[in-house]
Amino acid sequence: MSVVGSYLPITGYRLPTTVHCDTVYDFDSYLEETQRLVNRALTAVLDDYLDGVSDWLTEPIRYACEGGGKRFRPILFLAAYEVGGRLPDDRVRRLASALEIVHAYSLVHDDLPCMDDDDWRRGRPTCHRAFGAERATIAAAAMVPLASWVVAAEAEALGLSGEQSATLVAELSEAAGPTGMVGGQVLDLINEGRAVSSDELVDIHRRKTGALIRAAARLGGRVGRLEPRVLGAVTEYGERVGLAFQIADDLLDEEGTTATIGKDAHSDREHGKATYPGVFGLEGARAEALRLADEAIMALRRAGIDSPALEGLAIHVVERES
Ligand code: IPE
Ligand code: IPE
Ligand code: MG
Ligand code: MG
Ligand code: MG
Repeated sequence: MSVVGSYLPITGYRLPTTVHCDTVYDFDSYLEETQRLVNRALTAVLDDYLDGVSDWLTEPIRYACEGGGKRFRPILFLAAYEVGGRLPDDRVRRLASALEIVHAYSLVHDDLPCMDDDDWRRGRPTCHRAFGAERATIAAAAMVPLASWVVAAEAEALGLSGEQSATLVAELSEAAGPTGMVGGQVLDLINEGRAVSSDELVDIHRRKTGALIRAAARLGGRVGRLEPRVLGAVTEYGERVGLAFQIADDLLDEEGTTATIGKDAHSDREHGKATYPGVFGLEGARAEALRLADEAIMALRRAGIDSPALEGLAIHVVERES
């Protein structure tokens, strides 16, 4: 999918056609290439950190982590890192891959019969369909401390101080934990079949999905040594994009097919989930996602951040088809 030529409703802003990294890419090639590099780093990390672990555990972990996926969170980490003026290398990508490990764990749990009870993920049977609920649940549990371990050890390998490393682990844990992603997942579950207010809906979506995306941007910015004012703008960007991401996900659940999104379509409606299309209608949800992408880009520009990659990602989030 191309984002070239997209524009945003408030600013009328048009995306640049190219993204500058170590070379000049069109946006789709930038995404593809970064995804390839992230996949390579993730595989190397799993090889190293799972060395000697039994197949009983490594098979479902590798299935959950390596079977496709857009790699949006590590890519966002890397784009935020670049705002500091340096290009990421394999060591930085190894640290970024921890975001994908946390995300992949959340998908395994999200699909379990006790949660969304879904059969398809990333175009394949869900982890519990492939390995059974016991192995899937325990593998996902192992992925949470694994991700913290990767952040701490890779931060040390990058020469970050103990204090900087502790901050990264703390921010990631806060985003993924009871006040962030897991807390949001609980709200998502207990509000099934209930008519939620728009404030409740925003709260659920910010926690269950927005928090980790915000953390991906912040961790990338921290490792890239952004000054506090710039990190603040990247955080604002991450908050807007994080919420927009879940709105787009809600729209895809309504409008996509299992073949196009690689996971069970219309699962939200079947479960009576609190969703943006449910509360605001399809057009209202779409307009809100675009508005948030617009605000995200404006937050960067106000801070003088010139990042075609982050701007492209903001649009990509709301225009994606899977
Ligand atoms: C799906 O995430 C679940 C949400 C938090 C919305 P993604 O849309 O990033 O799924 P993958 O990683 O590309 O499969
Ligand atoms: C998932 O939200 C949020 C997570 C933390 C995994 P959804 O339940 O809407 O994600 P999908 O649609 O199953 O990927
Ligand atoms: Mg869910
Ligand atoms: Mg789900
Ligand atoms: Mg969904």
